[in-house]
Amino acid sequence: MLIKKSDDILPSEITDKNAYLNRRQFLKEAGLYAAVASAGGLLLPVSSEAAVTHNENGIYKDIATGPYTVDEKLTSYKDVTSYNNFYEFGTQKGAPRFRAAEFKTRPWKITVEGECEKPGMYDLEDFLKTDWMEERIYRFRCVEAWSMVVPWIGFELNKMLKQFQPNSKAKYVEFETLYDPKQMPGQERAILDWPYTEGLRIDEAMHPLTIMVVGLYGDILPNQNGAPLRLMVPWKYGFKSIKSIAKIRFTEKAPVSSWMKSAPSEYGFYSNVNPNVAHPRWSQARERRLGEDGFFSRKRKTLMFNGYGEQVASLYSGMDLSKHF
Ligand code: MTE
Repeated sequence: MLIKKSDDILPSEITDKNAYLNRRQFLKEAGLYAAVASAGGLLLPVSSEAAVTHNENGIYKDIATGPYTVDEKLTSYKDVTSYNNFYEFGTQKGAPRFRAAEFKTRPWKITVEGECEKPGMYDLEDFLKTDWMEERIYRFRCVEAWSMVVPWIGFELNKMLKQFQPNSKAKYVEFETLYDPKQMPGQERAILDWPYTEGLRIDEAMHPLTIMVVGLYGDILPNQNGAPLRLMVPWKYGFKSIKSIAKIRFTEKAPVSSWMKSAPSEYGFYSNVNPNVAHPRWSQARERRLGEDGFFSRKRKTLMFNGYGEQVASLYSGMDLSKHF
């Protein structure tokens, strides 16, 4: 039997959905699930009985596809991992890929505080429960009017939050990125009020569409995309999806995010994708899909709630979304 070398299936070669799916098909047909150890590039046979497997060295295999997955052309692995916003590693889109390369994401502790029965410091590995893992292909739209479609690997945030037993005063959840200027050189500069902070209403956080991401394209999450753990809230602008989360706090009052502090007239708490509400400096009615819409072609229409209205519009019924932007 021809055994493909692990080098042949590195994710960097994956450019579209077909290539990605073909790779999975190959692995299945070969009767083994390859674990490409990032160090040695080993090809390890793993029991085909294992429905979901997490390998610390870096690959998620044969993960079930979760609900709400969209059937759209995937943005290439290269674009997803080389066109990034991660200001802790520089404000240029191409910088995080290089500047986050040495960022240490293991061991990783998460501090849980505030209105819950089980505050404390937890190890990330406690949350990498294999039977929680799913692949979800989500649209992702940045406030800067570009968008992507990404096969994220993660789990519903509600599964994690319930472990901490939020109490009845927990109306909101606040998230913080690690604060470590030695490792994150961007934090030496006052671009934002560090650490990067974001928040959700508790019902938004508990919504099944909201996931914690630990991987993409079947592999462990690259540092530039927010390793080891980042939020993904697909009906909100990309900046809500905070990266490299080190703290979770349950609060009674609405948290004030770093972006709200830096420009309160431009960034509100909700930040739902809304083509009808312009950013003060530009329209939000259209977007450019990375890798598909050329720079000079007409941008495609942005969908209300980024196309997830059926699932989430009811969370905001009765609210004036031009005020609660
Ligand atoms: N999280 C942190 N800690 N720092 C950041 O600068 N940028 C946000 C969000 N999460 C950011 C962050 C913005 S503006 C966007 S659009 C997305 O991450 C980009 O995610 P991506 O690089 O994986 O596409």
